[in-house]
Formats: sequence, C-alpha cells, structure tokens
Amino acid sequence: MPAHIVTVFNQKGGCGKTMVSMQLSASLALRGLRTLLVDMDKQGTSTIWAGQGGIDNPYPASVMSLAPLREKMISEVAKHAENHDFIVIDCPPAIESSIPWAALNISDIALIPVIPLMDNVWASREAKELARRALDENPTLQTYCVPSMSRRGNVFKACTEILQDDTQIPLLDTGLQQRNAYGESQMFGLSVHGVSGASAAVKEVEALTDVVLTKLGVAISKKPAKSKIAKQKEAA
Ligand SMILES: Nc1ncnc2c1ncn2[C@@H]1O[C@H](COP(=O)(O)OP(=O)(O)OP(=O)(O)O)[C@@H](O)[C@H]1O
Ligand SMILES: [Mg+2]
Repeated sequence: MPAHIVTVFNQKGGCGKTMVSMQLSASLALRGLRTLLVDMDKQGTSTIWAGQGGIDNPYPASVMSLAPLREKMISEVAKHAENHDFIVIDCPPAIESSIPWAALNISDIALIPVIPLMDNVWASREAKELARRALDENPTLQTYCVPSMSRRGNVFKACTEILQDDTQIPLLDTGLQQRNAYGESQMFGLSVHGVSGASAAVKEVEALTDVVLTKLGVAISKKPAKSKIAKQKEAA
C-alpha cells in the first residue's frame, strides 16, 4: 500500500514544524512503520538534526532533503511512496512558497503547529486558508492545528480557546509542551525517545502519534520499541 503522507506546515517561522515532524517521524519508525521524513526547508534543520545521531544509535526514521526540487518533489515523493508506510513532509516557513501548496495536494493529513500566543493565532488563519483551498484539489485532506511549545498561563489558555472555536480545522487535544527534553533530543540527533528522563515528552509524542494514526484509520496496536540508549540505561 502506498505511504500515508503527512504535511507539517505554517508560514510562521519557529512555531515547531521541524520539532513536530522529527518527533512524529521517530515515533512512527520506532513502531516499526517504514517512515521517511522529507525536509523541504532550505535551512535543512531536519537533515542536520538527523545527521547528529551516532552510527550505532542513529535517528530512527530516514531523512531526505528534497528542498532544491521545490514543487517537483511530488514526483520524487511518489517514487518513495511504494516502499514506505509514512512520508512526513517538513515545510519551510514561507506560505508564499509553492511547497506547502504542492505538499497539501498529495497529503492525507496536514498538521499546523501553533504556539498558543496571539501572533501565532493570527498567522494560523493564513495557513488554515491554504488548507481550505487545497480541499478543492484534494477533498479527503484532513487538517488539524497542533498545540506547540504550550505552557500554563492566561494567554495560553485564551489562545487555546480561540483555536478550539474552529470546528472546520480543529485544534488537537494532544500537542507538545515547552520542554527541555526536546532541545536535548536535537543535540543528540535523536527524538525524545532516546533522551533519559524524558518520559513526559515521550508520552505526549506517543499520544500525538496515536491521534494521527486514528485519524488516518491505521491500527495503533504497535507500541514504540525502546531506543538503544534506553535499553543500555536499563541494563546498566
Ligand atoms: N516543544 C518544544 N519545547 C522546547 N523547545 C521547542 C519545542 N518545539 C520547538 N522548540 C524549539 O523552538 C525552536 C523552533 O522550533 P522549530 O525549528 O521546530 O520550528 P520551525 O517552525 O520548524 O521553524 P522554521 O520556521 O525556522 O522552520 C527550535 O529552537 C526548537 O528547538
Ligand atoms: Mg523548520
């Protein structure tokens, strides 16, 4: 069966697109699902991040930069769809770029990471508009906002409530909170699954993966395998 395609996009820079893409892809791969992360950002953050992993403890999913191909990535992604279960596309920040549009047209599900702050809420309107327009070409596309870097506080609460008001492009209940473990995972070239003491982060990443699988109608019986680092720590 061809791969399920997940696009992570938002024109807002620094809202957590790469973080969501990297953690979700790792979680899918650790469940034994053949997962390819396609880095469409010229900054190449996902590609560099995955490159930090060690030879004996690599980042769990495959990562490939197709940024130079721009919208021609569609034909390249199609070549990889047959031998993967999931392809996750990490988009660049600019929405005027043709890349998010091209990615939305071939995706099963689109995730818009949004930090619950007003500037992110305002910017999310443009991203949502693009996803709504993509429905003309791709009527089965499902789009959701994902809480990113959330913390407690009245502003976060108010912004979350605004995002929850949209029933057409809903806010998922599960997202990634602001946690040090995410930065650490980047430093090690891994996901939070390979960071010690990161159980709260792992739990929320797994919850997000379960939601994505459920929305796509994929069975979620597979649980993530322990990373090599976690196994070594247990044995010590
Ligand atoms: N949940 C989190 N907790 C802590 N730090 C985070 C979290 N999510 C993202 N970050 C940090 O926030 C910064 C921006 O995140 P990220 O690179 O994922 O955003 P982006 O939307 O991909 O940015 P760009 O638009 O530049 O591609 C990074 O330094 C990242 O390490
Ligand atoms: Mg990025």
